[in-house]
Amino acid sequence: MNKLNDWIKSKLKNWLLFFVRRLDEKYQNTPSIRLSSGSSFNRKLKIPLPIIIAVTYLVLYFMLLMQIGIGLSNGIAVFIILSILFFFILLYVNNQTKISKIDNDIAVLVSFIFIISLLIFQIFDKSLSPIAFPMSAFSIILCILVSLRISFIYIFVMTIFISVINNFNNVVPMIHLVGCLTSIIGIREIRNRSQFINVGIKIALSMALFVIVLYLLKIYPLVEVKYNIWFSLLSGFLSVLIVLVALPILETLFSRTTNIKLIELVDFNNVLLKKLMVEAPGTYHHSLLTASLAEQAATAISDNSLLARACAYYHDIGKLKNPEYFIENQNTKKNPHDELAPSLSGLILISHVKDGIALAKKYNIDDVIIKAINEHHGTSVIQYFYNKSLEQNKELNEQDFRYPCQKPTTKVTAILMIADSVEAISRILPDKNAGKLKEVVEKVINNKFTDGQFSECPITLADLVKIAESMTTTLCGIYHARIEYKDVEKK
Ligand SMILES: [Fe+2]
Ligand SMILES: [Fe+2]
Repeated sequence: MNKLNDWIKSKLKNWLLFFVRRLDEKYQNTPSIRLSSGSSFNRKLKIPLPIIIAVTYLVLYFMLLMQIGIGLSNGIAVFIILSILFFFILLYVNNQTKISKIDNDIAVLVSFIFIISLLIFQIFDKSLSPIAFPMSAFSIILCILVSLRISFIYIFVMTIFISVINNFNNVVPMIHLVGCLTSIIGIREIRNRSQFINVGIKIALSMALFVIVLYLLKIYPLVEVKYNIWFSLLSGFLSVLIVLVALPILETLFSRTTNIKLIELVDFNNVLLKKLMVEAPGTYHHSLLTASLAEQAATAISDNSLLARACAYYHDIGKLKNPEYFIENQNTKKNPHDELAPSLSGLILISHVKDGIALAKKYNIDDVIIKAINEHHGTSVIQYFYNKSLEQNKELNEQDFRYPCQKPTTKVTAILMIADSVEAISRILPDKNAGKLKEVVEKVINNKFTDGQFSECPITLADLVKIAESMTTTLCGIYHARIEYKDVEKK
């Protein structure tokens, strides 16, 4: 027996050592500045989708069974109901996106919301009233963090669950249905977290109004109506409370950057943006102009313009470490690069990406922004210092003057890369007429394209044409240049 134990231990040890070595090799091969992707949850644990589905099914099955009473007939009935629901949901989801392409993070989040909300419903049902259950909170969270469709699926399934638990009495599910639909309509206009309070009031009032309707239809007696109105108001209030508390936590845990989060990020009261404005005013101004270009270009290709603006605001925060080494912050002061070898100057420029990532992490800036910082130069050449170095040494390796970063992987980071260069070049252009500005935009896009910077992102040629048009128009607006239309020569 002992021999067997030793044999198992040695095998286990060897296997672990092999595993650790493989991991080590993997990380040694990764370029210097490459970020791990996925949420903080998934970075620790990657749960396969079939397991998430199976666990959700089993947990929901036992929760429902315990609520309606354990027994053979109840067990079979819950099994049939749950199987039908799962079958149709998976069929629907598979028709929308292939099951294999479903993000594990989203699956875990949706599963978590279903289980936790059913648990909270059971607590309210047993201790207070099923009407006070804050179901709208979960439909709001799913709508903001995942999608409207998933939120509707949640409302539909929870309505069935509540109906089953209440012996197919549909009054309570109907009250919650009214609250949830009001919440979904209400959150369309949300621009900051304080507006959730208005949504909460709307949820509470709509549920209370529906309770009054039920009284008028003689479904509820007057005594019950008074209590139920209070429970409806409580449901609305608790829904807002849960959203305000849980949304930021879930955003961080599942790395979901919502538009509300982006609006908060582009607020000029943000510490990092204020720091940039005071300590590196040139970079701050460059970031604002880059943001204008990127935002309009993202709109032109129907991408997330708010995300493009947020990424542009933060893309160069790494320059805060040594602002005087970057041309936009030098003004009339002496250029510190004059005393440095071009290769060293190149290294200082490259380091602003790494410094930016470190600073963003320090200030808890979202992963999506960190990704943009990491990708905004891709593997481009630092042309100025490369050319300067070439004058001194003809046998130069171009690779030493390339940013060791990740090439753009999304359309937004590709736009950011173009906008960044376009802004920097157009600023120093002596003659800023429309023709010259158009030339700059087209040249930047062509150079980045032929240099292979877009080889890892899904941007199309049609997108690039639209981006070029949009950026030319924005630049003309910034520099008040008029767009010239060349007359076609008629023969
Ligand atoms: Fe940069
Ligand atoms: Fe920049």
